[in-house]
Amino acid sequence: MAAFILLENSPVMLAPWHVLSTRIKGNIRNSVFEEVHGEDIWSFGAANPDHNKLFNEAMACDARVVVSAVIESCIEVFKGIETIVDVGGGDGTTLRLLVEACPWIQGINFDLPHVVSVAQECDRIENVGGDMFDCVPKADAVIIKLVLQDWGDDECIRILKKCREAIAEDKGKVIVVEAVIDEKDEKEDIKLTNVRLMLDMAMMAYTNTGKERTLKEWEYVLGEAGFSRHTITPIHANTVSSVLIQFNSYSSIVDTIVDVGAGNGTALRLLVEACPWIGGINFDIPHVVSVAQEYDRIENVGGDTFDYVPKADVVIIKVSIYMVKGNREN
Ligand SMILES: C[S@@+](CC[C@H](N)C(=O)[O-])C[C@H]1O[C@@H](n2cnc3c(N)ncnc32)[C@H](O)[C@@H]1O
Repeated sequence: MAAFILLENSPVMLAPWHVLSTRIKGNIRNSVFEEVHGEDIWSFGAANPDHNKLFNEAMACDARVVVSAVIESCIEVFKGIETIVDVGGGDGTTLRLLVEACPWIQGINFDLPHVVSVAQECDRIENVGGDMFDCVPKADAVIIKLVLQDWGDDECIRILKKCREAIAEDKGKVIVVEAVIDEKDEKEDIKLTNVRLMLDMAMMAYTNTGKERTLKEWEYVLGEAGFSRHTITPIHANTVSSVLIQFNSYSSIVDTIVDVGAGNGTALRLLVEACPWIGGINFDIPHVVSVAQEYDRIENVGGDTFDYVPKADVVIIKVSIYMVKGNREN
């Protein structure tokens, strides 16, 4: 963690803290970093290669701890992903660790040109310079770690929309690795909550609009960016980050569905027509399915619900329970 400590103790990064009160009193419009250095933190990095190098090395320290913990806690998140773009990927440490752990993945390390021009070279990783507010390179999935915290809600929504445009329609997901502030302040997590709150102050010192977010605040920006569903996995190993996965469409969640007591198959037909990624099983007693409609992506299966139900991601059971109520003992 040496580079991290050297960065945080450098005169460049300490100076904004000395005038933080001006921001709190509302005497300035921009970040205190900009007030002190005359430009924002990213332009400063572009103009000062030594600072840029130290900043990227410091971020790599965090990546080594957090990405290893992500891989340990939830490697399954990366199954089925062939290409991934790391937005604001810094010197490429996150992706290097990821492709080492997941040899089936190819990565794109995407960051500002002055950052990727000095990023590591690594097999199966391409370094691409650009601006995430304009366009994000296309891939099956996006990972975005400790980037959204640097921005206010409006900018986060714009960045997340660009991430959504970049990912595959079917298996696309955006994997956000960020802190989630716990409003309940659970006792066992109090130290980590304090670190997250300290990071919130750091965002105030270094950025114009950045902040740490509660779950409710994350749900707001993710919802506004148009994601249909998300899951959250806290990372173990004492890190302040969690993994928030945004799905581009419901297809990532339900691939197969069985309709129990399906009758002639009308419900399932309407469903698979509306959700073209779903395959269905129309399940009912044999004499019913033997005269059910035939339809692409639907298999008619005869059987007795009280014996078994065919396997699928999801079961739909409509009206049948009412029909059999009182007719069977178990
Ligand atoms: C706090 S660092 C996080 C780096 C890395 N993701 C990590 O966690 O180690 C934020 C990153 O966002 C990048 N960044 C800032 N503005 C950007 C933009 N407009 N387009 C692409 N990347 C940007 C910075 O250069 C920096 O590498």
